[in-house]
Amino acid sequence: MEGLFSVIFMLFVAATPSLYARVTPNAGSSNFNIVNYGAKGDGQTDDSQAFVKAWNDMCAATQGAPTLLIPKGKSFMLQPVSFKGPCKSNNVNIELQGTLVAPKSVVAWKWANNNKGAWINFSGINGLVIRGGGTFDGQGGPWWAKYSDDSDRPSALRFNSCKNLALSATNHINSPRNHISISSCSGSSISNIHVTAPEESPNTDGIDISGSTNILIKDSTIRTGDDCIAINDGSSFINITGITCGPGHGISVGSLGRDRKFETVEEVHVRNCIFQGTTNGARIKTWQGGSGYARKITFEDIILDEAENPIIINQNYRAYQRNGLADAVKVSEVTFRNFTGTSASEEAITLNCDPTVGCTGIILNKINIKYVSAGKRTRALCNNVRGSFSLCSPNVVCS
Ligand SMILES: *[C@@H]1O[C@H](CO)[C@@H](O)[C@H](O)[C@H]1NC(C)=O
Ligand SMILES: *[C@@H]1O[C@H](CO)[C@@H](O)[C@H](O)[C@H]1NC(C)=O
Ligand SMILES: *[C@@H]1O[C@H](CO)[C@@H](O)[C@H](O)[C@H]1NC(C)=O
Repeated sequence: MEGLFSVIFMLFVAATPSLYARVTPNAGSSNFNIVNYGAKGDGQTDDSQAFVKAWNDMCAATQGAPTLLIPKGKSFMLQPVSFKGPCKSNNVNIELQGTLVAPKSVVAWKWANNNKGAWINFSGINGLVIRGGGTFDGQGGPWWAKYSDDSDRPSALRFNSCKNLALSATNHINSPRNHISISSCSGSSISNIHVTAPEESPNTDGIDISGSTNILIKDSTIRTGDDCIAINDGSSFINITGITCGPGHGISVGSLGRDRKFETVEEVHVRNCIFQGTTNGARIKTWQGGSGYARKITFEDIILDEAENPIIINQNYRAYQRNGLADAVKVSEVTFRNFTGTSASEEAITLNCDPTVGCTGIILNKINIKYVSAGKRTRALCNNVRGSFSLCSPNVVCS
């Protein structure tokens, strides 16, 4: 009898989703609407405390797929805030339909514990899903004007020690520094996002990855003032596909080996991307005096539209000190395949490796890069590189 009743009830619920949605929040099971926690959403009032309370309730929930709802048509001002895990459920959701906006002037930001690292800090969360079409607005303008050194400015979003993060269908604008930082994460994906900041805004990287493994970034547009995506120390098995990048500095591995550090990146696969008006395209940069490696990296099926320096390996990116540097980060097993389009610089291919350490196993295949306007030709520079070069225009000759 009870079983039959449940079946009928389930059918009733399935047939009337709107009624079900109205009933559940009061039943306290899995939907947490930020407005019910007192958030004003007028773009001015500090709504951080409401968010922290709603997060804590959502994070403690066990039924269904706990979801924090941020409704559309409203703009919620948040001071720097941390959302911490672990949560009870390993599938927690943020349905971001509205806008989250940072304080509008530098002096209005209130830092807890004087930690100026990030505006919104997610850490230690397993199975966090963020989606919904809404926007993170970092209000970077006053920060860019006030601080030229990037270490004085906060990131917008930081994901630290996350597992199975899925960020999709969100907009990210005007971060004071990088828009999204992923560190010590595994098995995560970012898809269908749009990152936008002015071309001249300083260090406004789209996505920075460090110490992370098994990360997929796909089908997104990133138009900012610095790297579209940068892959840094301790990262491996990173796939990037379907990214339209530019303006910006391209997709970079590194820089690695700064301050004589041992740093590593391996298994990075970038496919099917477009570089439009970027200052670099596919780039690997390492510092003199560092150690470690960048290896097993492919960039393929790339379209170039007025990109400067479309293909660039620089093993002498910057020197730690002027003299006596025996070390360099090893660069090996790197493939650039199927690049087509136009370069805004004559030196379309730069393979600049260290005379002692050198770069090995570098493959260029099916490269066709023309200078952006008639009358000039592209060329390749190649120092201290071993590998194979076929069907390349410009032709690659290594010394
Ligand atoms: C983020 O939160 C973690 C955990 O509380 C903390 O260790 C870290 O310092 C925070 N980072 C920032 C930038 O606020
Ligand atoms: C990356 O791509 C490889 C090859 O297509 C695939 O085997 C691997 O599962 C992908 N990893 C992620 C995290 O998408
Ligand atoms: C080369 O890359 C372009 C652009 O991504 C793609 O459309 C084309 O199919 C690729 N060609 C081959 C032979 O893979």
